[in-house]
Amino acid sequence: MLEKFSKWKANRAESVPSYTMDAATQAIPKHVAIIMDGNGRWAKQKGLPRIAGHREGMKVVNKIVRKANEVKIDVLTLYAFSTENWKRPKTEVDYLMKLPERFLSMELPKLIEENVQVRLMGSLENLPDHTLRAVMTAVEATKENDGLILNFALNYGSRYEMIKAIKEIATKVEAGLLNTESINEEVLEQHLMTSDLRDPDLLIRTSGEIRLSNFMLWQLAYSEFWFTDVLWPDFTEQHFAEAIAEYQKRARRYGGV
Ligand code: IPE
Ligand code: IPE
Ligand code: MG
Repeated sequence: MLEKFSKWKANRAESVPSYTMDAATQAIPKHVAIIMDGNGRWAKQKGLPRIAGHREGMKVVNKIVRKANEVKIDVLTLYAFSTENWKRPKTEVDYLMKLPERFLSMELPKLIEENVQVRLMGSLENLPDHTLRAVMTAVEATKENDGLILNFALNYGSRYEMIKAIKEIATKVEAGLLNTESINEEVLEQHLMTSDLRDPDLLIRTSGEIRLSNFMLWQLAYSEFWFTDVLWPDFTEQHFAEAIAEYQKRARRYGGV
């Protein structure tokens, strides 16, 4: 798996063009993560039920995936449902769990054609069978694709992810396969759901909320953040381009000078 990823990474690196979306100096971010927020408020503003906002939000996903592919982003991670979102009314949760099927039934042929690799990041427990089946079918059908990685964070929570990783590591220690002294950042990373993905370079959150809501707490340690008041259903390719242009102006120091 890791070997395959290294090869993929090397190929991708060559194919990244000098294209910039703005007259800026930095490269296009390789991994963009988005907290797609504000669907409910968008619907409320229009006097519509919350699910109307989710339906509209799905259309935006489509546009942004196309754009990400076009500008040769390597990985696009989309926060679609958090481990805390189960707290919502059942009708809303049921609707959200139907969205992956709706999205993929319309988009899978195009994703295959466009060489997109669909992935799922999150807990598989609790996901309804129909949701899991739809996503796993897409994962399976696109696993050989080596273009954009479209990583859906579905039933994802960073704390859950870390606890899971820690349990796996502890099990290895108990079994004598690993000693405590050799646990380091790399070991932990190998047990996260992003084990073969680079950390996000850019995090985007829509809807004016300035928080992470349990999203990729480890992986975002040195990412650039870009927040906008725009609600997700109103988010356009132009906003996406703005975020990237802003990213290209940032100086990333990683603690150095
Ligand atoms: C984001 O929109 C979608 C999910 C969290 C599933 P919200 O549904 O959170 O919209 P707001 O924040 O209530 O406006
Ligand atoms: C985060 O949004 C989760 C997703 C976008 C899927 P929320 O709307 O659930 O976050 P909070 O509750 O405002 O922090
Ligand atoms: Mg929200």
